[in-house]
Amino acid sequence: DLAPRPAGARADFLPGTPDLSLFPRAAWAAAQRGVLAELPHQALGYPDPRGLPRLRTALAELLARRRGVVADPERVIVVSGVAQATTLLGFVLHARGVRAIGVEDPGSPEHGALYASAGLDAVPLPLDGEGLASGPLKESGVRAVVTTPAHQFPSGIAYSARRRTELLDWARSVDGLVVEDDYDGDFRYDRAPVGALQGLDPERVAYTGSVSKSLAPGLRLGWLLVPAALAEEVVERKRTMDLGNPVVDQALLARFVERGDYDRQLRRCQRAYRERRDTLVSALEEHFPGTEVSGIAAGLHVIAVLPGRYGPPEYFLERTAAAGVAVRPLTDYGRTVERTDVRLVLGYAHQSPARIRDGVRLMAQALRA
Ligand SMILES: Cc1ncc(COP(=O)(O)O)c(C=O)c1O
Repeated sequence: DLAPRPAGARADFLPGTPDLSLFPRAAWAAAQRGVLAELPHQALGYPDPRGLPRLRTALAELLARRRGVVADPERVIVVSGVAQATTLLGFVLHARGVRAIGVEDPGSPEHGALYASAGLDAVPLPLDGEGLASGPLKESGVRAVVTTPAHQFPSGIAYSARRRTELLDWARSVDGLVVEDDYDGDFRYDRAPVGALQGLDPERVAYTGSVSKSLAPGLRLGWLLVPAALAEEVVERKRTMDLGNPVVDQALLARFVERGDYDRQLRRCQRAYRERRDTLVSALEEHFPGTEVSGIAAGLHVIAVLPGRYGPPEYFLERTAAAGVAVRPLTDYGRTVERTDVRLVLGYAHQSPARIRDGVRLMAQALRA
């Protein structure tokens, strides 16, 4: 979700942004100095459009270890974020005659917008409690689909093991492609995260992720792993698009990963975000008793379904907006979302526990006023 932060809001629960004040400035600066000292002049020329071999090796190790991705460095393509990975795949699929791609409903509005820019129609497909619903997927006739299986955005469910298998069976049966957007797969607070779908069938899944949630979205750095059958076309698209990602940034991230700084950063964020999630859940219990928080303990946001007495949704949103509390209803993210209750997508990661508590209190006051 790329919605801009509201400038004058008294409380801000918009989802999608990590805590930018946790950016590891000192470690990043040290890595930058190290990289500038060690990079030979030769390395400052045009890079391999797939990315620096050193970074692809570091990412392959990282993604295999942390996410169970089948990640030969030769398969890794460095991109400027999930957004660029999406656009590249869109162009390649379009060139192969694909004109429609399934997207989760509810889902990230960015997916549809990015595929549209490549000439593909996004076909919204409903979810059930286990993931993308199998029946509607089969009936839709699409042969490519975008998914967020580790932590569905925005509903917050993790795809069940059965649904993962069904999804891959479907992809094989239609000679299709599953795109796996692992946008926040590193953040799971109650157990080790479920491994990537790509690990189960690397020839049917294109896997993408970025540092946007773990370091900062402004770095514009991410990765894409594609089935062998698509690799050459994707790399050629990447080449003609921008001749590759900036070399210094790539070397920097490689060094950052190699030296364990990236793992340290993930642990630090993980601790902070778990505490913030717990704070939000308990503040909701205190100020909005009976609220049902759904979704696994993961990522940067929760779904909160408020008891009927706080509705209807239009009234709730009017009152919170008037009080300067920025919130997004789940209905903003899909057509198949229940419209009777107040269902909110509440981002918590970008703010301190104190601000979270104050924000929930303000929200409650807005409704009493
Ligand atoms: C589900 C999801 N995927 C991808 C992105 C974009 O990621 P990136 O910054 O890596 O391009 C966003 C942005 O917030 C998102 O919400």
